[in-house]
Amino acid sequence: MPDDSQADPVSSEVSAEDIEEINTLTELGTTLIQAVLEKEPLTNIQDLIDAGAPLWFQDNEGISPLHAAAYVGSEQLVKMFLAEGAVWNAVDDLGNTAGDIALSMNNEECYKLIRDAGIRAELLLAVLSSRSSLVQSASTLVIDSEDNTAAGSNDKFLASRLQYTTDANGQENCLLKFKDDTEIGVMMGWEREIMCKTVDELCSNHPRFKEGLRILNVGFGLGIIDTLLQELSEPPSLHVIIEAHPDVLAHMRERGWHGKPGVKVMAGKWQDVIQSKEFRDLGKFDVVYNDTFAEGYQELHKFFKLLPDLMAGPEGRFSFFNGLGATNALFYDVYSRVSECHLSDIGAEVRWSSVQVDSEEDQERWGRTREYFTQPIYRLPIAQLKQKRT
Ligand SMILES: C[S@@+](CC[C@H](N)C(=O)[O-])C[C@H]1O[C@@H](n2cnc3c(N)ncnc32)[C@H](O)[C@@H]1O
Repeated sequence: MPDDSQADPVSSEVSAEDIEEINTLTELGTTLIQAVLEKEPLTNIQDLIDAGAPLWFQDNEGISPLHAAAYVGSEQLVKMFLAEGAVWNAVDDLGNTAGDIALSMNNEECYKLIRDAGIRAELLLAVLSSRSSLVQSASTLVIDSEDNTAAGSNDKFLASRLQYTTDANGQENCLLKFKDDTEIGVMMGWEREIMCKTVDELCSNHPRFKEGLRILNVGFGLGIIDTLLQELSEPPSLHVIIEAHPDVLAHMRERGWHGKPGVKVMAGKWQDVIQSKEFRDLGKFDVVYNDTFAEGYQELHKFFKLLPDLMAGPEGRFSFFNGLGATNALFYDVYSRVSECHLSDIGAEVRWSSVQVDSEEDQERWGRTREYFTQPIYRLPIAQLKQKRT
């Protein structure tokens, strides 16, 4: 016999009236989707909405009216649904948003309408969340800020044990181990290509290259980017590495990073280290890179706001690991553009380049460890402060 004393108080309060309302909404929502797919006249669609057909409704395959509008390629309906409050980032059971559907059907106009609605929603949410602690994890955020595991919470991550391993190909990986023996990559070898191109974009042709660049890197991981920076034909004159995880710091010490000439390892979270007098006394940097772990977009946005104090004028270059939202084409696009808008807010301009990261060989080699980045192309940002007009 089930134990009713533990019954969920919410479900036990569902009344006959509630059930009737749910049935009505389900019927209206289903009829609306059907009407869109059957390309009924706009007036019928508007009548259904006026009658209360919910735009947030998703049928048993996860299809929403916005997905249906994308399927039939109707710009007019996409516009109308978004204006009436349709959820731009709802995913169907196959993991596709309406934007992904528009993209797969080569309907650029519909795609742009949905993407721009996403950008507007995310920018607005960023403003609201910076002003009120109540807006912490709105469901419309591209980035899931409700993840409280060590992969989603920076403090939990910093208190967890890490393991450095070498795979069958001799490639080093840095893994976060969970109690149930599952593991996820904190830094994986497949990102080497991205790091190489990042160093190239950040340092090659830098006007101060010959003097030895002053470099700040946040997050050591496998030290791929730091090693590449040390291998530059003209080594950095100052190379500051901020790293917070005790296991990573121990690994760095073992590998001799603390004693390398010109390298300064600063232990702690960047949020704290950057405020310290010791750090501020170092002055400004020609190159700044940020690639942490288990931090949401809000933290990266905070980092952006520090850039005018960190970067040595308009010649300074900044990049960050652009990996948030990278499990879905639309989310990745929205996230990249939101970061561009926020960098523009602090007076920086972004130049994007692409790195192909989906070769067959890579897919076989890295398999499931790449689940957090499923896009075929990495979009690499390089930001520079704009020249001030005199
Ligand atoms: C993805 S790895 C960086 C990989 C690195 N770019 C490379 O080339 O190997 C992220 C690193 O950021 C560190 N980290 C995470 N949160 C941090 C924080 N708040 N402050 C400083 N370091 C942090 C992690 O411990 C980890 O070593």
